[in-house]
Amino acid sequence: MESTYFKRFRMEVDLGVPRFAPALPPGYRFVAWDECLLDVHARTKFRAFRDEIDAEVFSCLGDLDGCRRLMREIRCKPGFLPLATWLVARGCSPADLQWCGTIQGVVDGRGVGMIQNVGIVPGHRGLGLGTCLVERALAGFRSRGLRAGSLEVTVDNGGAVRLYQRLGFRRTKTIYKATEAAALPPAGVPSSLVAAATF
Ligand SMILES: CC(C)(COP(=O)(O)OP(=O)(O)OC[C@H]1O[C@@H](n2cnc3c(N)ncnc32)[C@H](O)[C@@H]1OP(=O)(O)O)[C@@H](O)C(=O)NCCC(=O)NCCS
Repeated sequence: MESTYFKRFRMEVDLGVPRFAPALPPGYRFVAWDECLLDVHARTKFRAFRDEIDAEVFSCLGDLDGCRRLMREIRCKPGFLPLATWLVARGCSPADLQWCGTIQGVVDGRGVGMIQNVGIVPGHRGLGLGTCLVERALAGFRSRGLRAGSLEVTVDNGGAVRLYQRLGFRRTKTIYKATEAAALPPAGVPSSLVAAATF
């Protein structure tokens, strides 16, 4: 079976330094985690990722049921952190309500806050919503006393890499994700840096 490898960075930011949390643009608001919003997160994630490179890396992101499964998995992780899990909405009445962005946070075994997926629905990008959601998740990690925030990003996802660098994330590791089960790592890459593309 032929495999495609995607180069990804693990990036980390020190939470020990004070941070500036920007306000959302007018008309937008944060919506805190609630169990009844699991499907809203899944649908917003799907709309944000379905046409993007990460849907090639993680096929579940290009499929609504895959996003639902992924959200249930994230929710069931022992370190799932509601304080780092947010939606951005616009409008209040059922007629004009729009779900615009989603982020989830999990605490790993080392006491590091892991951002799972940040996604902004097309049409609401370039307004600072991604910046605000990442800062909101980092504030949630800080409120739990965590020392660092971390995430993984596909290197070819230039906009996302720029966003994280601007927010102070620095590369700590390079990983190669295989889209299909691979017998061998790409030429010249140690097998210890190769991970199967599964969530
Ligand atoms: C990556 C992603 C989350 C960024 O979200 P976003 O809301 O567009 O992010 P921001 O608006 O905070 O920043 C994006 C750009 O808008 C600019 N911007 C931010 N606020 C702005 C404002 N008020 N006015 C004008 N431009 C602004 C930023 O400077 C940035 O510019 P750059 O791309 O040249 O660096 C979004 O593109 C996305 O959902 N992509 C698909 C899913 C994905 O790949 N997620 C990342 C997985 S690791």
